[in-house]
Amino acid sequence: MTLWAGRFETPMAQALWDLSESYSFDVTLYEHDIRGSHAHVEGLRSAGLLSDDEARLLRSTLEAVREEIARGEFVRHDSDEDIHMAIERRATELAGPVGAKIHTARSRNDQVATALRLFTRDALTGIATRVLDLVAALRELADSNATAYLPGYTHLQRAQPVLLAHHLYAHAWALVRDVERLVDTRERANVSPLGAGAVAGTSLPIDPDRTARLLGFREAFANSMDAVSDRDFVAETLFDIALLGVHLSRMGEELVLWTSAEFGFAALGDDFTTGSSMLPQKKNSDVAELARGKSGRLVGNLTSLLVTLKGLPLTYNRDLQEDKEPLFDSVRQVELVLRALAGAYRSLSFNAPVAARAADDEFLVAIDIAERLVEAGMPFRRAHERVGRAVGDAVRRGVGLATVVAESEDLALYGELFEAGSALDLRTSPGASGPAAVAAQRERLDAALARAHSRVSA
Ligand code: ARG
Repeated sequence: MTLWAGRFETPMAQALWDLSESYSFDVTLYEHDIRGSHAHVEGLRSAGLLSDDEARLLRSTLEAVREEIARGEFVRHDSDEDIHMAIERRATELAGPVGAKIHTARSRNDQVATALRLFTRDALTGIATRVLDLVAALRELADSNATAYLPGYTHLQRAQPVLLAHHLYAHAWALVRDVERLVDTRERANVSPLGAGAVAGTSLPIDPDRTARLLGFREAFANSMDAVSDRDFVAETLFDIALLGVHLSRMGEELVLWTSAEFGFAALGDDFTTGSSMLPQKKNSDVAELARGKSGRLVGNLTSLLVTLKGLPLTYNRDLQEDKEPLFDSVRQVELVLRALAGAYRSLSFNAPVAARAADDEFLVAIDIAERLVEAGMPFRRAHERVGRAVGDAVRRGVGLATVVAESEDLALYGELFEAGSALDLRTSPGASGPAAVAAQRERLDAALARAHSRVSA
């Protein structure tokens, strides 16, 4: 019998039970549900709705249930509809009659919302911490290849040389924004719905501010209807994870390219690559492909929740139970990807000579010659046209740009620009890809990281 069977004459049909039970997935929330119940019990005690002895007994009982679940000894009963009912049912078995008081002035609607916010708060902190570790892995790779450079691409065509650090920091900046976003979301999620009851609060003298404080929430809800029906914090979390997933997917795609024989810019360690069941020579970058592939379901989970929320009348509707699996899935999957990608970058060896050869492509010097002509007083559009003609000649004759430049009276003095690495050194403007600018950028990145770290742990 469920805990709410009082007003029913026949038991629930199996088909409805199978559709509506959520224990099979919301058992994930047990720890957060018990935290919420501890605060609720303390709230009931200070409101005079439980004696000190009753509260003490309920709290030690909640701890006993927590340990049963943690040790894997908890036995679900057939009537346990979800983790919240299961915990109350077991606590009542263990504590005796006082167990029947634990749900005073509480509904599953505020109880579930409370547990879910506590879960989300922890998950956001956990993900942000992992993102920062991935950024640390990128920084380590940049540091251990401090002079390495490669072509910067637009349209996946070689464009201008960039320091490897500059390239990796580009990803780092996106990830720092992800961390900021996760923490912003955590701030908005950090409001307690406990005490909202089913929809309209209660006639009993509870103090939601007190339970909010006990749970470390910034404040308690202002509106009981909003408190039980708001899932913005889940939607925001799913968006943050989806966008983070898109960033990780782009990084994954890049690793796939870099580790291909065609690029040959990098190799992942044996511990972060997989073999082929048929082809003995294969060493595959599955880690990068999964980083790319997982992003699909992360975007799907966000879409799924938004569609679930759309059109729901106030307040709680059972549809809201569908918020949990997408959230749990996105949290788990993105954590898996973050951990594996950080390891993959730490295992990566960058093939600096191969990347430098690609970046020393003579055509990448074209813009620098044009800019020297500009310094000599030529309008940029004419300089572009002049160097463009030299490039055209080189392409038609099948020779390098340096050859054509050396043969041209007006350009020959720029021959030294073709020395390996000199185009990189010329990238000096603020935020540019050359060594001096990147050194300055690194200080800004460090400051941004310090701020992100302190926000995450605040
Ligand atoms: N398992 C449900 C959920 O996660 C519990 C809420 C049920 N509330 C209710 N009023 N029927 O949403």
